[in-house]
Amino acid sequence: MHSFEYRNGALHCEGVNLDTLVDEVGTPAYVYSKATILDHYRRLSEGMSELDCLICYATKANSNIAVLNLLAGEGSGFDIVSGGELFRIKKAGGDPGKCTFAGVGKTREEIEMGLDAGILSFNAESEAEVEFINQVAGEKGVVAPIALRVNPNVDAKTHKYISTGKSENKFGIDFESIAGAYERASQLEHVKIRGLQMHIGSQLTSVGPFEEAVKKVVPFVQQLKDLYDIEFFSIGGGIGIVYNDSLASGVMSWWEGQEEKPLTVEEYAQALVPLLKPLDMKIILEPGRFMVGNAGIMITEVLYEKRGSAKTFKIVDAGMNDLIRPALYEGHHDIVPIKEPATASTEEKVDIVGPVCESGDFFAQDRPLPSVESGDRIAVLSAGAYGFVMASNYNSRPFPPEILIDGEEVHTIRPRQSYEELIETEIIPR
Ligand code: LLP
Repeated sequence: MHSFEYRNGALHCEGVNLDTLVDEVGTPAYVYSKATILDHYRRLSEGMSELDCLICYATKANSNIAVLNLLAGEGSGFDIVSGGELFRIKKAGGDPGKCTFAGVGKTREEIEMGLDAGILSFNAESEAEVEFINQVAGEKGVVAPIALRVNPNVDAKTHKYISTGKSENKFGIDFESIAGAYERASQLEHVKIRGLQMHIGSQLTSVGPFEEAVKKVVPFVQQLKDLYDIEFFSIGGGIGIVYNDSLASGVMSWWEGQEEKPLTVEEYAQALVPLLKPLDMKIILEPGRFMVGNAGIMITEVLYEKRGSAKTFKIVDAGMNDLIRPALYEGHHDIVPIKEPATASTEEKVDIVGPVCESGDFFAQDRPLPSVESGDRIAVLSAGAYGFVMASNYNSRPFPPEILIDGEEVHTIRPRQSYEELIETEIIPR
């Protein structure tokens, strides 16, 4: 896929010149490539085609209903974590019957919504939750489809905030206690055991931890199949993408990394399919970042340069409220000018910082970048996943727009928020 590349001196997304685009839509702005999202979905789906596989896209990664609608059109299922996400899936034309509902703290209202919508499964994360689902389903006179989430205690070797499969994480039920939890769940009248789920972490760049977790859990899945006739095993999401050198290494294609060697679908499938095939059951994948991460960028404009004694700061018009990953996880995002730099252009070491009143408000620190001046636009790459969805109105900064590119077509899938909209739900008491 070559969806973001320099053409005629300017960065393009598919057939659209991004410099011209931001003349119209302004900055900061998120831009997504439809072709890239579809390509990622299809590659994964084809890679796993030897299995009876259902992809449940992790909605949280990018939940704009236009993105959900695209994936729904491909037949994707959805992994959701809230009533709000279920609401979005329905509005986007997704099939609730292909939705798995994860999360450690589902409320009564959310459980009722899931039951009413006829979701595929509640992925329960504790025995207390299973009992509560049983109670709510009983009150409604229905039976709730459930799976339990096992915590396999495998090190995902990723950032500690996005690692979920170790005993010290709050997620899932310990491997040692999971058999007893199934046994007790099987006694409950208003739940039906349909599967087993796990998810060891996010942004995994090697297949080893996935392999280790699957190897550890498969024999137990086989037991569950014999005991309770379960229908699916969900191995979660977590496939990592390239954040480094993404443009140079094949233009934002997760499978062509240079320094950062990401997982390829081929590697993932080669390691996991032989382990999963003998189970002869539905395998669910819950990829989020893989699907949309490198399909999106955030464009921002340089406002000022400030040369301090220790550093040179380029102050841009996007802030940590628009993209929080660098501040929260020290996440690296490549940054490139929208106007293609001359090959001989010099680089200087700069900090790219936003206008928000926090020292954590940066997109890059001590980063050698081609020189950019006030008024130049730059693109923060690989921002399609956990970008806009984690944005906030902190410092009363309106949400940026989201634009979906389809060939030469430009679709505004969320306009920039206005100041009126920023306060429209607030009330001064009389
Ligand atoms: N399934 C479950 C149960 C999850 O908790 C997650 C992500 C996924 C699937 C999708 O994982 P992915 O394929 O996207 O790695 N905000 C962080 C990432 C948080 C991930 C939370 N769970 C970031 O920006 O890196």
